[in-house]
Amino acid sequence: MRTVYFDHAATTPLDERVLEEMLPYLRENYGNANSAHHLGQKAKVVVEDAREKVAQLIGAEPSEIIFTSGGTESDNAAIKGVLAMSGDKNEVVTSEIEHHAVLHTVELAQMQGVKPVFVESQDCGTITAESVADKITDKTALVSLMHINNEIGTINPLSEIATVCREKGVLFHSDTVQSLGKIPVNVNDIGVDLLSGSGHKIYGPKGIGLLYVRNGSRWMPWMHGGSQERRRRGGTLNVAGIVGFAKALELSVSEMAAHTAKYQKLRKLFVDQLDQKLNFNYSINGSADGAPHIINLSFTDDSGSGIDGEMLLLNLDIEGICVSNGSACTSGAVEPSHVLSGLGLEDAAANSSIRISFGKDNTEEDVIYLTDKLEAILNRMFATVA
Ligand SMILES: Cc1ncc(COP(=O)(O)O)c(C=O)c1O
Repeated sequence: MRTVYFDHAATTPLDERVLEEMLPYLRENYGNANSAHHLGQKAKVVVEDAREKVAQLIGAEPSEIIFTSGGTESDNAAIKGVLAMSGDKNEVVTSEIEHHAVLHTVELAQMQGVKPVFVESQDCGTITAESVADKITDKTALVSLMHINNEIGTINPLSEIATVCREKGVLFHSDTVQSLGKIPVNVNDIGVDLLSGSGHKIYGPKGIGLLYVRNGSRWMPWMHGGSQERRRRGGTLNVAGIVGFAKALELSVSEMAAHTAKYQKLRKLFVDQLDQKLNFNYSINGSADGAPHIINLSFTDDSGSGIDGEMLLLNLDIEGICVSNGSACTSGAVEPSHVLSGLGLEDAAANSSIRISFGKDNTEEDVIYLTDKLEAILNRMFATVA
């Protein structure tokens, strides 16, 4: 069966060029980067090269880069590490449409006396700097707001939010897992203090991530153990993963313009095809000028009845097409996605949604195949609803 993959916001395949770069560190150069012998030293050198490369690609200093196990760990480390140093400041400003790696971390902190303060997003899902300013008090320890939303693709105005945070003397963390390598991310242009990234969203390996902590920030390590990462993240270094992450980031930055142009073209074709083929209403959740690679849609008939998004996903899967409904991390759960509910969508519309996320290897034929199958499946499903 043909597999057509439209779930790149959940994960991406490993780029062959990344794999090539990693293989020597899985085979012959298997040394522990903390060992004093030549194999260890070889590993240490490539890790430091990778750190310099990653730092340069996001405009940071190498000393500000900490390698982690992924976006989830980086979000945890950023939030917990700032809160541990925040003294009597006990408020975290965030939004209800963040990834669970942020939301659940803040929820846990709440059990320990931290007060979450939620900024409302606009109808289209973006958060304005003014609304952040309104929520900051002299008790605010941290503002944590994502760059690109993983479910609906909206882009927050990070540099405006960072300016507000700086003026008010509050640290600003951003989960840039979906934006790194997709749109420009430069820590100085943005003015962010802490930032999270992940390898497997950019054609790199799973299990490797990036935490950026601006030098001088009041933050303490969250993972304790050996002296790795200058005592800021204990644990034997994932040398092959680190090498792969740096290569993946380098490739996604250098190929960004071409990929963006491709996603814009595929997205336009997708919407044009839907307009031609569908007899039902569909609405795009999120703003029209969001990230080009993510599009989230709800399907309803004239009476406002929606179809079951989970069934739609499974029917597409039978045809070999991989999409997502809600974030991949919550699929399987029957509740509507917290992001779509957070946008104010009724349960019927939220439950009838799917997310398509384009990748660099998708073709126009893939999009035509997807819309053909969507047309046939929706016709069947809406006939059952009626
Ligand atoms: C916005 C966002 N943050 C964090 C994560 C978690 O990243 P990881 O899978 O590397 O732990 C994801 C993954 O879906 C994500 O989309």
